[in-house]
Amino acid sequence: MVFTKLITCSGPVNIAVIKYWGKRNEELILPSNSSLSATLNQKELKTVTSVMASESFSEDRIWLNKRYKQRKGCHDPLLNCKLHICSQNNFPTAAGLASSASGYATLVFAMGKLFDIPVGELSQIARLGSGSACRSMFGGWVKWEMGEAEDGRDCKAVQTHDECHWPDIRLLVLVVSDTPKETSSTSGMASTVKTSELFQHRVNHVVTKRLGLIEEAITQQNFPVFAQITMQESNQFHAVCLDTYPPIFYMNDVSKSIVDLVTQYNAFSREIKAAYTFDAGPNAVIYTLKESVAEITSLLLHFFPPSTQEGCFLSASIFLKGFSF
Ligand code: PMV
Repeated sequence: MVFTKLITCSGPVNIAVIKYWGKRNEELILPSNSSLSATLNQKELKTVTSVMASESFSEDRIWLNKRYKQRKGCHDPLLNCKLHICSQNNFPTAAGLASSASGYATLVFAMGKLFDIPVGELSQIARLGSGSACRSMFGGWVKWEMGEAEDGRDCKAVQTHDECHWPDIRLLVLVVSDTPKETSSTSGMASTVKTSELFQHRVNHVVTKRLGLIEEAITQQNFPVFAQITMQESNQFHAVCLDTYPPIFYMNDVSKSIVDLVTQYNAFSREIKAAYTFDAGPNAVIYTLKESVAEITSLLLHFFPPSTQEGCFLSASIFLKGFSF
């Protein structure tokens, strides 16, 4: 009888508040600093991946968002089987919305199920696909500890707080552009590490301090402190990109108007009620509390009406545990 096995599962995006940017070892994907993120639920943003292993397949095949991709030599985990993999995101791919994190995490999770790999080992495998993918293997708040060992054995993602810890936190995702970014994270990080002095200052003097403070703010559910660090982190990450030579621009004019709007909203409210953060793309994620969602949503819709194509409000998300299959 021909051996055939099929697994389908879906996996979540994570959005960093302490950013990962820069590798100390490119082959093992060991980061230059630790990072921390929240894992989103899968109502609005998710990757769905099916992996089929069969002795009857003559070659490995991969489809990403329904398009066939040429494989670049990877080896089969089972000697007698070839794999057919279909992976689909329900949100813009490679546009700075953590599609590589959910994509690789979901692929590794599906492979783990297919070949009975213990769940504990999967996060470190996911890291090798895309660094931030290791954080998507857990729900709630997740820290990726950079570790010290040269072989990466202590470089791992751990959950710091589960998805029920801060029930009032919310995320709003603003899709400013759905076109793939010009500079990939991999090449952007490599040139930052080579050329940016601000990056050296950041990893040596800033990130560890901020990580301690934001973990404490999350523990205490202290939104103003959490929000200020989140915005400063986003600002410094993009400043480091600008300090890279040649410079990298991920944010555009609409992104900058969103920064402006959030800043003015906080000033007008006389307290910090919203925090923006941008990854490697122009799209914004706004962290806020449940009580402010309606107010901020109406502000965003007023200044960025979807019909003008200048920023489109996508979703409000809460955190839930990672995977379903
Ligand atoms: O995992 P990568 O290689 O796609 O890098 C992600 C880097 C950022 O999204 C910009 C920051 C982060 O910590 O997720």
